[in-house]
Amino acid sequence: MHPLTALLTLSTLLPTALTQYANLNTSQEYNLRTCLKPNQPGKERFENLWLSTFHIGAAQSDAVFLPDRTNTTPAAFLTPSNTTAVGSDASYSQAFDLGNPVPWQFVMATNVNGYANWEPVRVFAGLGASSQASAYQTGGFFLNETGLQWGALGGFPGWIVCDRWHGLPQLFFHDNSDFGLYGVGTLPCSCADVNLMPEYI
Ligand SMILES: *[C@@H]1O[C@H](CO)[C@@H](O)[C@H](O)[C@H]1NC(C)=O
Ligand SMILES: *[C@@H]1O[C@H](CO)[C@@H](O)[C@H](O)[C@H]1NC(C)=O
Ligand SMILES: *[C@@H]1O[C@H](CO)[C@@H](O)[C@H](O)[C@H]1NC(C)=O
Repeated sequence: MHPLTALLTLSTLLPTALTQYANLNTSQEYNLRTCLKPNQPGKERFENLWLSTFHIGAAQSDAVFLPDRTNTTPAAFLTPSNTTAVGSDASYSQAFDLGNPVPWQFVMATNVNGYANWEPVRVFAGLGASSQASAYQTGGFFLNETGLQWGALGGFPGWIVCDRWHGLPQLFFHDNSDFGLYGVGTLPCSCADVNLMPEYI
């Protein structure tokens, strides 16, 4: 079945999620921009960066940031999916149109480093659960006044941007999915806490 056909079919099977998140306008695409959370002196370089992708393998990228918004800045949109995150009934994928036939999606890479306080965000081709990602890692996204959220257990502890693996600021998240055992941890000075705000196209 064509992925879009599958999604349309599935969306009719998700009345609870669609009711609770009925105020989400999924018809409008956006670019994602960092907005530095307050009280982080010296972290200004992480403000106003635009989400992009960095190729790491076939159909796989890391989520990174570039300083400028251009016509190649990935267009993001929320799309109903058959996946959910623990503690949430928000059944949306954070999808991207990267200019090729298949949509791509955020994958919360909760298992890169078991029980770690923070983990990277991947951008993989395709939507929903797959051999590369679980339902948990690909569902549960929504937008509210403080931008893009993920429905992790006990509320979403937030996005992190760090100078890391690719010579570009890179997206990570505070991971409380290991049942909050270790709290949200302390960030290295090469990282900042940010919101990811949608700037509509
Ligand atoms: C959603 O956003 C689009 C684009 O701005 C707009 O045309 C449409 O009216 C909006 N829909 C709702 C229900 O607000
Ligand atoms: C969710 O959808 C994907 C394809 O979009 C499919 O491979 C997967 O089996 C589905 N999962 C469930 C639980 O239905
Ligand atoms: C947005 O959602 C997050 C995650 O559930 C929550 O912590 C935050 O308070 C919400 N923000 C607003 C303004 O409702």
